[in-house]
Amino acid sequence: MYSLPLLLLLLGTAVRVTAHGISPEVPKIVPKVFIVSMFEPEAEAWWNIAEFDVLAHNISLPGLSPLFPDVHCTEDHTICQLVTGESEINAAATITSVALSCLFDLTQTYFFIAGIAGVNPERATTGSVMFARYAVQVALQYEIDIRELPPGYATGYIPMGAEVPGRYPSTLYGTEVFEVNADLRTMAAHLARQATLSDSAAAKEYRAHYATKDDQYKAATLAPGVVKCDVATSDVYYSGNILSSAFANTTKLLTNGTGDYCATAQEDNATLGALLRSSARNLTDFSRIIVMRTASDFDRPYPGSSAAYNLLHANQGGFEPAIKNIYLAGIKVVTGILNGWDATFGPGVTPHNYIGDIFGTLGGRPDFGPGRTESLLEGGALKKRGLRGPPRRHG
Ligand SMILES: *[C@@H]1O[C@H](CO)[C@@H](O)[C@H](O)[C@H]1NC(C)=O
Ligand SMILES: *[C@@H]1O[C@H](CO)[C@@H](O)[C@H](O)[C@H]1NC(C)=O
Ligand SMILES: *[C@@H]1O[C@H](CO)[C@@H](O)[C@H](O)[C@H]1NC(C)=O
Ligand SMILES: *[C@@H]1O[C@H](CO)[C@@H](O)[C@H](O)[C@H]1NC(C)=O
Ligand SMILES: *[C@@H]1O[C@H](CO)[C@@H](O)[C@H](O)[C@H]1NC(C)=O
Repeated sequence: MYSLPLLLLLLGTAVRVTAHGISPEVPKIVPKVFIVSMFEPEAEAWWNIAEFDVLAHNISLPGLSPLFPDVHCTEDHTICQLVTGESEINAAATITSVALSCLFDLTQTYFFIAGIAGVNPERATTGSVMFARYAVQVALQYEIDIRELPPGYATGYIPMGAEVPGRYPSTLYGTEVFEVNADLRTMAAHLARQATLSDSAAAKEYRAHYATKDDQYKAATLAPGVVKCDVATSDVYYSGNILSSAFANTTKLLTNGTGDYCATAQEDNATLGALLRSSARNLTDFSRIIVMRTASDFDRPYPGSSAAYNLLHANQGGFEPAIKNIYLAGIKVVTGILNGWDATFGPGVTPHNYIGDIFGTLGGRPDFGPGRTESLLEGGALKKRGLRGPPRRHG
């Protein structure tokens, strides 16, 4: 057996020994846009399109999902795509592997999360394209089954370290809320509004059920549009009025009233958590993230129908337009970034809002949560004498 450096020398490849180990001296891949898909239908929305061929290069990397072992890139590597696999663990592991890979220089790259999601009918409808400022890990809480709940609890979810719903959690993991660049979000939504969105007859027919006298679900009855509102992340794929209301409340609570829950998916906080860590080391730029979700199904039933019907049996008709709208809206965002590269996106879009996590890891003052020092204390990174309560189970 040859050692790796010797083998590379024998193969005629120059090697460089760096603080991070040994890496072949090959030019890095410098994408301008990295499309983040979560599963096959979202990935395929970008394949066989007129604008570019993202399947020109397939690059396998350690740490990717066994289902999606390759990163894809166009011929000149300007646009790349990764597929995380679904849910939080897959998203965190895949994004970490790409963000830390020495094959890429991602310091100027725009990460464009483009997936489908459940939708809150109070805020939008199936087929709509939603751009988030906050991603909130809503199910990172204590939970008691409803059948064992004490009286007076409207939900079985209780924030970590709290005794009742509605209190800001006092035990913090740091992934509760991520906030991305609101100025970039506005530009992306503006680009997406140039698209003519897809809809389907089945989606139209189904959303009509949400018409009520008090117009509570008016947004659900309208044609698909582009909406700026926030995304919840939960591994558990929930359905129903009570869980949807509980997690809308959690979104408001954790973002100190600013978050506007409209979409639910299973990955974004994990993706953002991984990008936050790499951004803390300047390997990626946290101000260059766009979170776009297109609505495939409602998070709660229409009046008179049931949570189980909504989840398991209804033909909502939203999946197909949601997938199509990833491309139709997303291509405007991608080409907008490329066309505006020299003037705008290359230099970067300066955020005027706080970006990052509850700990203030990237600097600045979080506009949600108890504040940087308090959060670090509650996360256990700083010790405050005499304030440690009884030992609690973590993780
Ligand atoms: C890359 O992989 C995709 C399927 O994942 C395949 O369709 C495509 O042909 C591959 N491209 C190359 C250059 O091998
Ligand atoms: C999840 O991501 C959203 C942004 O998509 C962010 O607002 C939220 O803070 C994140 N939550 C956690 C727990 O990371
Ligand atoms: C959400 O908050 C509203 C307003 O405070 C409250 O009426 C409702 O019961 C809450 N929902 C749940 C499921 O806790
Ligand atoms: C990242 O870049 C910023 C701004 O240029 C700099 O202040 C900081 O020290 C860098 N951090 C690391 C870990 O290199
Ligand atoms: C957010 O709300 C909590 C209480 O729910 C409060 O302690 C904290 O100071 C608020 N943070 C900010 C940044 O306003």
